[in-house]
Amino acid sequence: MAAAKDFGIEPRQTRVIETPYRRIRTAIPHPDSLATLRTLRECESRSMRGQPPVVWGKTHGFQVEDAYGNMWVDWSSGVLVANAGHNHPRIVTALQDYIASGAPLMTYCFPSEARAKLVEKLIHITPKELDRVFLLTTGAESVEVAIKLARTHGARLNPKKRYVISYEGGFHGRTYGAQLAGAPMEWVDPNRYFVQMPFPGSIDTDDKRFDMFANRLKEMSIAPGDVAGVIAETFQGREAKLMPVEYAQALRAWCSEHKAALIFDEVQAGFGRTGRLFAFEHYGVVPDLVCCGKGITSSLPLSAVVGRAEYMDQFGPGEMTSTHTGSPLPAVAALASIEAILGDKLIENAAELGPYLKAKLVNIARPYHDQIEVGGVGLVMAMVFFNNREERKPDPDKAFQFCEESLLGGNLFFAPVGKGYGAIKFCPPLCITKPAIDDALYGPAGIKDTLTKVMS
Ligand SMILES: Cc1ncc(COP(=O)(O)O)c(C=O)c1O
Repeated sequence: MAAAKDFGIEPRQTRVIETPYRRIRTAIPHPDSLATLRTLRECESRSMRGQPPVVWGKTHGFQVEDAYGNMWVDWSSGVLVANAGHNHPRIVTALQDYIASGAPLMTYCFPSEARAKLVEKLIHITPKELDRVFLLTTGAESVEVAIKLARTHGARLNPKKRYVISYEGGFHGRTYGAQLAGAPMEWVDPNRYFVQMPFPGSIDTDDKRFDMFANRLKEMSIAPGDVAGVIAETFQGREAKLMPVEYAQALRAWCSEHKAALIFDEVQAGFGRTGRLFAFEHYGVVPDLVCCGKGITSSLPLSAVVGRAEYMDQFGPGEMTSTHTGSPLPAVAALASIEAILGDKLIENAAELGPYLKAKLVNIARPYHDQIEVGGVGLVMAMVFFNNREERKPDPDKAFQFCEESLLGGNLFFAPVGKGYGAIKFCPPLCITKPAIDDALYGPAGIKDTLTKVMS
């Protein structure tokens, strides 16, 4: 697949916007931020140019500011990280108190109170069948571990039980195993034990029946008993689509029947994003392994696999560790973030405002119904731009233009994602409010105006 586009860093003069939620007072990016932007361009890999050129100065709640008086409504959450809100006071205070106490900044795998409190909390908030936790640093690592656990479990049952089934168009991170399970990349050698299925009801297929899964295996001459695990994003990130409930339930039953691990990758979907603490709750099933990351801390890097002891306890002491396993500061942040999400009733807010936002976006996009599709659940929506909606051909140029223009209007999105980079994701911190949504959508230079401009 072609790479996404670079964002230009030439300052663009634009109109002044002053609302209670958005403030654009200068050219964007501000000329004084160019030195930083240029240093990054000169010193970093080109792969790091993928986001709009705003140097984040301060963040709070659902807003991002630069150092020059400009302020955006943040629809990115830093790619679905800041679920509790940016710089939630509970997280900031917990980190400050921890540092002030003189407690260690790292503990390797030596026991720590911060880690103990977090793993206990994770077990408490997940279904009772999931009774072990392993902490890591990135989402991709949690996927690597889940694959390792599923394949080890499979191979111990039956040496031929090595297949890992994942879904076309899925994304699980940028490490080797995660890329084997995700979209094909030229640097990853095909591996016959990693097999992909169409994601039911995705941009590529309207077929939502579970038969599709079993038939595909048959076509590929894979015996169900040779499948070690099935890994799926709980909603497919690129278009924010959940599986049909019946499909997920049939998949759970199939995995149980054939002793394959059901792995839900909740790195994007977890911690309230979809209006439930975990998105698999929409399906009424319990997976064997859950990958968590991003919104688990709303801030510092930490990820986790939560799962059944049968899988999680397969390795002996020292055989499944990582230097920064449950590093104390991220662990403190995670505990505070979970408490903030629950205490501030942010899951309820996502469940209430999600349908509100969706209805408004559908309405705004209605004049362009042959070119735009809106979908999603809770506070993760995708607006997918098509050249030709019937042929499902994405329009990356329109999506990119929308992202760039929105920046000048005080609405901050991450770069387009999904098939052909045609999807703009709307995933604000879960503390966003109705008046902020209304302002961002309908206020001056808001999303409605931006869409009109881009589509004209
Ligand atoms: C569903 C999913 N899984 C895994 C990952 C990888 O997480 P990380 O970037 O922390 O490695 C991502 C990141 O976007 C993701 O969206």
